[in-house]
Amino acid sequence: MNTKLTNGGIWNDINGEPIHAHGGHILFHDDFYYWYGEDRRGDMYVSCYRSKDLFNWEFRNHILTTSTPVAPIRVRTNLGLVNEKGGKVNLERPKVLFNPATKKFVLWVHYENGNDYNDAACAIATSDSPDGHFVYHGSFNPFGYMSRDCTLFQDDDGTAYFISAARDNADLHVYRLQEDYLNVECLVGKLWQGEYREAPAVFKRNGKYYMLTSFCTGWEPNQGKYAMAHSMEGPWSMLSDFGDETTYHTQPAFVLKRSEQEFLYFSDRWNGADYFQSSYVVLPIEFHGDVPTLNDYSSLLFERETRSMMFER
Ligand code: GAL
Repeated sequence: MNTKLTNGGIWNDINGEPIHAHGGHILFHDDFYYWYGEDRRGDMYVSCYRSKDLFNWEFRNHILTTSTPVAPIRVRTNLGLVNEKGGKVNLERPKVLFNPATKKFVLWVHYENGNDYNDAACAIATSDSPDGHFVYHGSFNPFGYMSRDCTLFQDDDGTAYFISAARDNADLHVYRLQEDYLNVECLVGKLWQGEYREAPAVFKRNGKYYMLTSFCTGWEPNQGKYAMAHSMEGPWSMLSDFGDETTYHTQPAFVLKRSEQEFLYFSDRWNGADYFQSSYVVLPIEFHGDVPTLNDYSSLLFERETRSMMFER
């Protein structure tokens, strides 16, 4: 049993294999945490692991690969999961929500046909189970806008939002999704225009919404910032610093809310020279009143008696 994880180290699943779930997201469903993330090996795009304690991860499935079935819904601009040269496309920062009305697991991801990041599109896929083989529904530009680094957020009433970097990353857009989560319904915010914020991660605490973002420096880390709002539809506050000038060598992936008291910052420590050496860093978000702060810890310890997560300097 795994009772310790080292930030920035290799994290193995329960079979001793390194976990491939970068730029990811965790969905809590039927007593399990499902961790989805980028898996760029071979013909894979997105892999899924699950755990009850966040320490012992069981590999479940490669939920999106080059051979994932394609089923168009409505008008999508680009349907393939293989580009015109027969190579892989680029799928980044996959996020999955469960839609309570349709009972579908809905995945949104950043889509690029090639490595030049010129498509700046999003793509969606769905499944009837959290770790089943997803069906791919194609990529598109929401309301015609560019859409790169992205995240999803589901509010308590089931309303969901897609947040993504637009206008060559200069602006961060917030879109309310349609009830089935299969399309955008309305652009409700163009945030911090010209500030180049990316890697958005949203959480809600005491009725307030928080958004963490990074600046735009590719694989290199930079100063994280957060903002607060009383509604997902804004207005959002100005940006304030979060963590140190490299956010402890991380970029946000998502925030996991375990309870009203426990918010975990899940992030990537990218290795731009060798993507496959990229690792994970999880830190507790500590609050002073309403102000979230991030401190650096070297590892996560599993406290057997309380089954909780402790952090070691
Ligand atoms: C980062 C982005 C990553 C990836 C990378 C490529 O800024 O957050 O998801 O796109 O750039 O350089």
